[in-house]
Amino acid sequence: MTTAPTARQGAVGTAHTRVEGRDKVTGAARYAAEIPFPGLAHGWLVLSTVARGRIRALDTAPVLAMPGVRTVLHHGNAPQVATDYPGLMGGKPDPTAAVFQHDRVPHPGWPVALVVAETPEQAREAAEALVVHYEQEPHDVVFTADHPRARPTGGFGPAVTEKGDLEAELAASAAVVDAEYTTPEEYHNPMEPHGATARWEDGRLEVVDSNQGTMWVAGELANLFSLDPSAVRVRSEHVGGGFGSKGVRAHQVAAVMAATVLRRPVRVVMTRRQMFSLAGYRSPTAQRIRLGADADGRLRALEHRSLSLTSTVHEFNESASAPSRVMYDADAHHTVNSVVRLDVGTPTWMRAPGEAPGSFALESALDELAEKLGVDPIDLRLRNEPERGPVSGLPFAGRNLSACFREGARRFGWADRDPRPGVRRDGRWLLGTGTAAASFPAGAGPSTAAVTAEADGSFTVRINAADIGTGARTALTLVAADALDVVPDRVRVRIGDSDFGPAMIAGGSTGTRSWSWAIRLAAAELRERLAPDVRVPPEGVTVRSDTTAALGALTQRERHSYGAQFAEVAVDPATGEVRVRRMLGVFAAGRIVNPLTARGQLTGGMVWGISMALHEEGVRDRATGGHYGADLASYHVAAHADVPAVEAHWVDDHDPDDPVGIKGIGEVGIVGAAAAVANAVWHATGVRHRHLPIRPDRVLLAGAPDA
Ligand code: MOS
Repeated sequence: MTTAPTARQGAVGTAHTRVEGRDKVTGAARYAAEIPFPGLAHGWLVLSTVARGRIRALDTAPVLAMPGVRTVLHHGNAPQVATDYPGLMGGKPDPTAAVFQHDRVPHPGWPVALVVAETPEQAREAAEALVVHYEQEPHDVVFTADHPRARPTGGFGPAVTEKGDLEAELAASAAVVDAEYTTPEEYHNPMEPHGATARWEDGRLEVVDSNQGTMWVAGELANLFSLDPSAVRVRSEHVGGGFGSKGVRAHQVAAVMAATVLRRPVRVVMTRRQMFSLAGYRSPTAQRIRLGADADGRLRALEHRSLSLTSTVHEFNESASAPSRVMYDADAHHTVNSVVRLDVGTPTWMRAPGEAPGSFALESALDELAEKLGVDPIDLRLRNEPERGPVSGLPFAGRNLSACFREGARRFGWADRDPRPGVRRDGRWLLGTGTAAASFPAGAGPSTAAVTAEADGSFTVRINAADIGTGARTALTLVAADALDVVPDRVRVRIGDSDFGPAMIAGGSTGTRSWSWAIRLAAAELRERLAPDVRVPPEGVTVRSDTTAALGALTQRERHSYGAQFAEVAVDPATGEVRVRRMLGVFAAGRIVNPLTARGQLTGGMVWGISMALHEEGVRDRATGGHYGADLASYHVAAHADVPAVEAHWVDDHDPDDPVGIKGIGEVGIVGAAAAVANAVWHATGVRHRHLPIRPDRVLLAGAPDA
């Protein structure tokens, strides 16, 4: 296939505002919990206040007598669900969503009941009045780097990769870095909370939801409730952010149970506070990196060990050694991903899982090595550009990391940089700059699409994509327009409906690529069918595609997006305050479909990187296991005042095996961003910060050159 099917200038690569933008800013676009249903009842989840134990009793009688209350569902009366089925990607499903099936409480914030009433206020008041008696057991919620129950496990990739004699290569090295890094619990916090409405309609279960893949949710609901997949429809038209958290969760399952019991539509929405217990989060990590290099910077030894936590009910491994398996080779190369099971909720995918925390440790360690060797940090990375995947041994599907660094250095003004730390001042501020590399896997998942030529000359694309704020709907409109050789105005893209058939979820930075592929296949066949003299009947002409076979025939390559991150910070040594003054990223992320929304996605990722470096931290109370400050007032995410000039650019890059040349830009923007900030803080102050976030108290404790 070629990327430029026609002589007419293509829409792909040109800037377009969001096709649903007007609907969103005028309020015409409705989010899941805003859509009205006649006869709607409202469910409110009751979460465990103990960290571990059993439910002895629930005093439901007084609550059932409260105004508007229709039922209280709990383990004693809720419908049974199946839990023994293959989950997403063949793994075991996270039983967190299979609510009210037993009396065990495996972690704080475990859903123990759903109170359903006529109004959300009545449901909330009754839920808060429900007295639950527990039999408490001792709990362990404290994550430590040397936890005795930690053990290596597979996650994204194997538990352990190993080649060469690490100790011998370290001993033979001219410079060695051996450092430990930690990152805290981090919470997705999409603006739109999770919310679902379930109802039965002519024997079919219909769920209106906010998620990252309606097939995913529909499939799990069918499995849980032992329904034929065709008897479940899930829709999710507009999604106010997901960041990995919007899959199958307690609220959808509880809503289906209540709709089944009450035989009327039931809506369950999470509060912001409940999201900290029910929506997943990023595990904290404790990472140890050992690097050994020759005097010229060539790596002889690289070891990356990562420990994360998981719950006692389901295993999720943050796999933070992932970037070391792709970024740099060494004669001795060891990586290990371990987990420890604690009495906490199950962590999940969040904003570049693995790579975001892993790149903080790895790219900080590279900066420390550059300092020790007296080599420029960019030169050090360029001298270690591998020929092939260090662990996979596969050729790269284009890497272009050096092009990103060259272009980034030029735009950022790196050439004039004085490498000495702690010598630049602006009044009370110490100034510094830092850089780091970024990478994230690029892939595609099997998808189907239907493209219809309408009798009026327009085209309708139906694909079960999810636009979680990325601009996917708009990108797909541009891809479809080019594939059909028409202007984007003549193409309508409908997404977020499981009745459209299977498609990849919006996850793993694979959405736009996966869906574009399916649209291209269907559009190509449609164009063949629509010979110039073919008259389109009133019902239109529809062609369906399925990319399963095409993806199965893909060439084996190590496929990643890459990037170079740059940051300038100012540090006040008297208050410990760190301000990012500017950030700049240059990415090699395949063909960029819509420069306008792509820039937003990449700068958004970089802002999350600032947030990760300086602000985000979920803190638990050891005594109760619960969170301190489970709200956006206490859990600070970078706000407008924290975000200075942030620029994202890209270099020419093109996946050789993708029909459009796409790789994926969903997550690479956050990768390396926190390390660039931390490296800049070192350059400003001469002090290394190996523990995120770089809070004022940590800056003060670590000290800095005299103010
Ligand atoms: Mo993303 S963390 O794969 O939603």
